[in-house]
Amino acid sequence: MNFTGAHILSIQQFEQADIEAIFNVADAMLPYARRQKATRVLEGAIMGNMFFEPSTRTRVSFGSAFNLLGGNVRETTGFESSAIAKGESLYDTARVLSGYSDVVCMRHPQAGSVGEFAKASRVPVINGGDGSNEHPTQALLDLYTIRKELASNGRDINGARIAMIGDLKYGRTVHSLCKLLNLYKGMRISLVSPKELSMPAELVEMMRENGHQVTVSDELSSSITNVDIAYSTRIQEERFQTREEADLYRGRFRLNQSIYTQFCEPNTVIMHPLPRDSRSEANELDSDLDENPNLAIFRQADNGVIVRMALFAMVLDVVHLVDKHTHDVRWFPGIGR
Ligand code: NCD
Repeated sequence: MNFTGAHILSIQQFEQADIEAIFNVADAMLPYARRQKATRVLEGAIMGNMFFEPSTRTRVSFGSAFNLLGGNVRETTGFESSAIAKGESLYDTARVLSGYSDVVCMRHPQAGSVGEFAKASRVPVINGGDGSNEHPTQALLDLYTIRKELASNGRDINGARIAMIGDLKYGRTVHSLCKLLNLYKGMRISLVSPKELSMPAELVEMMRENGHQVTVSDELSSSITNVDIAYSTRIQEERFQTREEADLYRGRFRLNQSIYTQFCEPNTVIMHPLPRDSRSEANELDSDLDENPNLAIFRQADNGVIVRMALFAMVLDVVHLVDKHTHDVRWFPGIGR
C-alpha cells in the first residue's frame, strides 16, 4: 500500500509486504528510541492525540513517538473536556481538528467511530482503539514483539504456536492480532476464554479457512502446554452492562510462576497488551512472574514507541529524511533501554 497520507484504521488494509516495510522502518527507529541519537525531522508538525477512553501506554507512546521525531503533540482526553460533551458530531470535530494538526491519533468507545472521523478528516488518522472492534497499532507492536522474541529462540513466525487467553469477545487487541497473524502461514492458535467471552466466530472461521489450526477451550493449563507465546488479556469490564457481570469472569485464567513451571515449555514467552489487572480478584499475570526472563510485557510496551514512530514517518513521508536531521543527545539517556 502507499502509506503517504493514508489513514491507519484496520489491520485489514495491510498485506504482508506492508508489515515487513513497517517493521524495517521500526528497526531503523531503535537508535532514536534508545536516545543514541535524536532527530528533528518532524519539527513544526503537530499531532492531535484524542483519547475519549482511558489509556496510558497507547496515548503516551503515540505522543513520545511523535516527540522523538521532533514533532509537537496536542492532547484531548475524555468527552467531558471536549466539545463532544456539547453535542458536537464526530464529523464537525474531525473537520475542525484536522485543521489544527498534521496527523490525528484517536481512541473512542464506539466501534467504527475512528473510521467515521477519518472520512471527515483532512489529515491522516490513526486508530488507537475503537470500542471492541480494532486496535491495529497494538497488533503491529504485538507481532513485532512475537517475531523478535521467537527469533531470539531461533524460531520463525510461520508455524508459530500462540495461545490467546481471557476476554476474546471484547478484546480489540486480539481481534486485530488474529487478522494480522492471518497474513502468515501454518499457525497453531489456541483460544482460551470463558464460553461467553469467546472469539467472534467470523475471526475463527477466517483463520481456519486460511489453513491455520485453531482450537477453542475454556481450560488454561492444557491450552498453554505446547505454545511459543501465551498472550493474556484483561476482562474488558468497560464493555459489560455492570461490574458484577465482569466479576463473574475475573480471575478465571490466572498465570503465575508455579503454573508456568508446571505446564509451559521452558521458553514460552508471556505477553499481555497491558494493563494487567493486578487486583487480587483478578491477578491475571502474577507479579511473581516479574523476574521470569520470558515475561515480555515490558519489552512489548517499549516496542510500541518504535512501531508508532515508523507509522508516523511513513504516513508523513519522511522515512528517507529521518537520518538527515539528526543532532546529538545532550542529556543522560537512562539505563538499559
Ligand atoms: C488495550 C486496549 O486498550 O485495548 N490496552 C492497550 O492499548 N495497550 C487492552 C486493555 O485495555 O485491556
